[in-house]
Amino acid sequence: MQEDIKKIESQALGEINNAKDYRRLDELRIKYLGRKSQINQLFSKIPQLTQEERAGLGRRLNSLKEAVSKAIEDKMKDFTAKDKAIDVTLPADEIYFGRKHILSAVSERICNIFEKIGFVVVEGTETEDEWHNFSALNIPLEHPSREAFDTFYLDISARNSKSGKYLLRSHTSPSQIRVMEKTKPPFAVISPGRVYRPDKVDASHSFMFHQVEGFCVDEGIKFSHLKGVLLHFAKNFFGNDVSLRFRPHFFPFTEPSAEVDISCMICKGAGCSVCSRKGWLEILGCGMIHPNVLKACRINPSKYSGFAFGMGVERITMLKYGINDIRLFYENDIRFLTQFYE
Ligand code: PHE
Repeated sequence: MQEDIKKIESQALGEINNAKDYRRLDELRIKYLGRKSQINQLFSKIPQLTQEERAGLGRRLNSLKEAVSKAIEDKMKDFTAKDKAIDVTLPADEIYFGRKHILSAVSERICNIFEKIGFVVVEGTETEDEWHNFSALNIPLEHPSREAFDTFYLDISARNSKSGKYLLRSHTSPSQIRVMEKTKPPFAVISPGRVYRPDKVDASHSFMFHQVEGFCVDEGIKFSHLKGVLLHFAKNFFGNDVSLRFRPHFFPFTEPSAEVDISCMICKGAGCSVCSRKGWLEILGCGMIHPNVLKACRINPSKYSGFAFGMGVERITMLKYGINDIRLFYENDIRFLTQFYE
């Protein structure tokens, strides 16, 4: 009987291994595991055996059955795997590759341009206090210029009276203060991040948007350094043929201050609907850091000077790609997002 079992086992496993298709495999399943199979016939002989013989044979037959079922199952998996590999008629799966959101990609690109010329990335905090968002930036309490930076206040007072109330920062300029309080000049920093303003949402406003702040402090820093750095940035970001225009402006934390325009890349300065026939598009605010700001951070303004600039990431992304509604950035519609490879 043991001989029979061994013979059946090696024959079954051999035949299963050589099976060429599902049909043959099914035939073998019936042949070896079906009701009329040799194995079943052996099972039916058990009652004729002695007590000791019964247990041994029962076990032996069960393990044979298991071995055969497993071999059939494995072969079946083999077939399925091969089918998958070769069935060229199946419709292809659509694959979406994840990628950075266009605003993250543009922020990173801006930072990279400045990093290459020695700026270091430092991120500030989105929850700020009145000292860093206003007072240290030469925006006194109750001064009307605070209104220009309309702000979401949090219902929590900061730990000391100098800090005032907590708020969501309304610009990235507090990063200047955070760095200057801790670091001695010289430094050149580029600081990206989210900012918040209680604006009514429309095609060009959002209550949350992104800015990149840049600043540099050392002995002998002049407005011409600022101009050179910004021209370098604009050429790298918008293209070599771009021109810059500095218009005098006012910011409490810089003196002198300017707003910077680039020549319209649609009409090259001739005037079109994108630039409202002006030929120029505003891209950022900048200036020489106000002596009061340096003083607030215990940096001696008679020894050191610096420049600072801040730009809106949504705005320059819209200009670069001809996007006409800021809300598109936040809707996460895959049809919009997949258009950009930065
Ligand atoms: N913080 C200003 C804004 O939000 C931009 C700015 C930054 C201007 C640095 C001058 C210097 O509009």
